[in-house]
Amino acid sequence: MKKVSKIVMGVLIFILSVSAFGKGKIYVGTNAEFPPFEYLQDGKIVGFDIDLINAIGKEINKDIVIKDMAFDGLIPALQMNKVDIVIAGMTASEDRKAAVNFSSPYYEANQVIILNENNKDIKGFKDLNGKIVGVVLGFTGDLVISEMKDVNSKKYNASYGAIMELQNNKIDAVVLDSQTAINYVKHNKGIKLCDSKGDLEEYAIAISKNNPKLLSEINKAIEELKKNGTYDKLIEKYM
Ligand code: ARG
Repeated sequence: MKKVSKIVMGVLIFILSVSAFGKGKIYVGTNAEFPPFEYLQDGKIVGFDIDLINAIGKEINKDIVIKDMAFDGLIPALQMNKVDIVIAGMTASEDRKAAVNFSSPYYEANQVIILNENNKDIKGFKDLNGKIVGVVLGFTGDLVISEMKDVNSKKYNASYGAIMELQNNKIDAVVLDSQTAINYVKHNKGIKLCDSKGDLEEYAIAISKNNPKLLSEINKAIEELKKNGTYDKLIEKYM
């Protein structure tokens, strides 16, 4: 290579690496088994949360790198600095608040009951007593049902597994977050939603307690995305 082109190359590489370094990455943990918030489509992780965090990344000038993992491994991954934040339709519960910080809430949900279409005797949470109820390990639905002493809970690793067992009459009901439940009922035959709803839950982005700066940047970005219409567009796209 001629000397001049070597210098040009050197300068180019320098500029590229400075800009890549300057931008910085945010490693984001999720569990892509929770449509419409995060799920796999043709092998790609997509969904409301994924679009939202990418929009936040743009606002705060950071590249987003998504890491898919088991739901109950997300908070430990955050605590061990394997990821910087978690976005996973995660309810900002009091228990979790003891371990991590949460952004301002970005979505509201409740636990709901999914039933076989022909089920007539379950009309609310009280009617789950004595029944076998599918929940997903570590989800808030798991906690709610585990507190009901007369309910037989059956724990699954992923929500779709519970839905299939319900369709096959292996269990009486599934307790799951409202929007995800609506999504499953829409796309699967023979199941319906029960009218009654559990307590209000708020989804928020989890951030390590050691990173208050990132927390306030993310909160500012959420506020901006709600103001400029991006948030509403995502709601319309996914819900
Ligand atoms: N909102 C529920 C919780 O926080 C369920 C979240 C499940 N999210 C997921 N990406 N798998 O426990």
